[in-house]
Amino acid sequence: MLGRLTATNTRRQAVACARAFSSKPTIEVGHRDAGEWKTYGDIENYNPGKFTIQTFNKISPQGLKRFEEEKYDIRATGEEAVGNAHAILLRSHKLQEEEIMHCVRAIARCGAGTNNVPVARCSELGVPVFNTPGANANAVKELVIAGLFLGSRRVIDGINHMKDLGAQGLAKERVEKDKSMFGGREIMGKTLAVIGLGHIGASTARDAAALGMDIVGYDPGLSIDSALKLPKDIELKDSIGAAVANADYISINIPYIKGENGTHGIIGKDIIEQFKSDAVLLNFARGELVDSEAMKEFLDNGDGRYVSDFPDDLLWDHKNAVILPHLGASTEEAEDAAAAMAADTIKAYLEDGTIVNSVNFPAVSLPARPEGSIRMSVINKNQPGMLSKITEAFADADLNIVQQINQSRGDVAYNVVDIDTSGHSDVVSFKEVQEKITMLDGVLSSRILYGLPGTGYAKNIDGSYFV
Ligand SMILES: NC(=O)c1ccc[n+]([C@@H]2O[C@H](COP(=O)([O-])OP(=O)(O)OC[C@H]3O[C@@H](n4cnc5c(N)ncnc54)[C@H](O)[C@@H]3O)[C@@H](O)[C@H]2O)c1
Repeated sequence: MLGRLTATNTRRQAVACARAFSSKPTIEVGHRDAGEWKTYGDIENYNPGKFTIQTFNKISPQGLKRFEEEKYDIRATGEEAVGNAHAILLRSHKLQEEEIMHCVRAIARCGAGTNNVPVARCSELGVPVFNTPGANANAVKELVIAGLFLGSRRVIDGINHMKDLGAQGLAKERVEKDKSMFGGREIMGKTLAVIGLGHIGASTARDAAALGMDIVGYDPGLSIDSALKLPKDIELKDSIGAAVANADYISINIPYIKGENGTHGIIGKDIIEQFKSDAVLLNFARGELVDSEAMKEFLDNGDGRYVSDFPDDLLWDHKNAVILPHLGASTEEAEDAAAAMAADTIKAYLEDGTIVNSVNFPAVSLPARPEGSIRMSVINKNQPGMLSKITEAFADADLNIVQQINQSRGDVAYNVVDIDTSGHSDVVSFKEVQEKITMLDGVLSSRILYGLPGTGYAKNIDGSYFV
């Protein structure tokens, strides 16, 4: 836990900013222990020391090795006492609010969902929460491609049949005779409709095209990144109904969203009625997207198939369904990729202030910090007038801003300010200005990206100053 100072307990300190135009002033930044004030040397020769990353769950070594030993200490929860953790890395652990100590600047989940993290509380505390969208996309896409074949050839029925015959000692005798029971069709030249062209859908479309399929797609929110991955001959439709109408195979790759205008049962009776009678639906997105009753009726009455890795109490043993355990993302590579992506996002945030893949903070890509400048970030409630109060505080402290970025998302705003130190001699002190800015009504936290990792971080929690 960090030390606590009250807003009124400010020790006035002379800010040494005599304009002697030395190019290498000493920088005073932050406080590791309550009230302690650290002074560091010039920026060019500065060695930042180590950040502490607290892990919950077993994190893939492929992810952990992204943290250079000379800059990071990795501490597993439970194995050793974790003191001032600067960031938390976790998989499925249900993170409790009290496990987020005041010193924690960021939390990253190796995986797409963040239901196990108290995101709303993190936003109130000014702590970004990161996830790893798309890290498991290749794993899921490979299973979708396998699903194309499982829906085309009666491979699983054939395997089960061989097991039965083998148990009766008839495998060799009957193998040729019985194979006509399991005939199938090829996917080459058939049409695949991909609903949802994000990480999984776009790469499914690309690889299915490479296998000789004609691709149609539907995605009202197609991103530029995904569009660049699409096969060049894809035909984009303007509704799910239009996409599925002439498709032999349909792959659904959209998020499950509850409530009005959500996606619950989006593949319902009205859509299924538009399927060709022998269409194969691949659902590796979420079970709740498909109306099981309507799907059962379709499977009962035609030669269509349903292939999914989500449990379904109605369809699990239907002769025209292949229901797998939820295996889409269950590969070592997907875990490695998620851990590596989570580690990279934490590093980018701790070291430079960059924000990618956050579920509660705006994406912020930052230009390089100009030489000789000190970077400070300020997180505040997204309310009018904050930016001018923050810049005014820097001006009052005679600190010149050379570069500034302000982005907001929902209730949170994120500011990154690069301060020119070249006009100062002796000592550039951030103590007073940091306290002043942090204690502005509406500011949640501030961070100076300089000094030892334990220093330079301050929080305003309900009007109390924590450093
Ligand atoms: N089977 C598994 O183990 C497994 C693993 C990971 C993800 N998933 C599921 O796959 C889904 C897709 O994952 P992703 O990484 O590609 O996500 P993504 O966010 O990259 O892509 C989702 C795409 O769906 C589009 N979309 C949203 N609503 C739509 C609608 N009504 N109609 C058409 N398009 C719509 C979005 O615009 C976006 O482009 C996830 O939401 C998740 O539920 C399953």
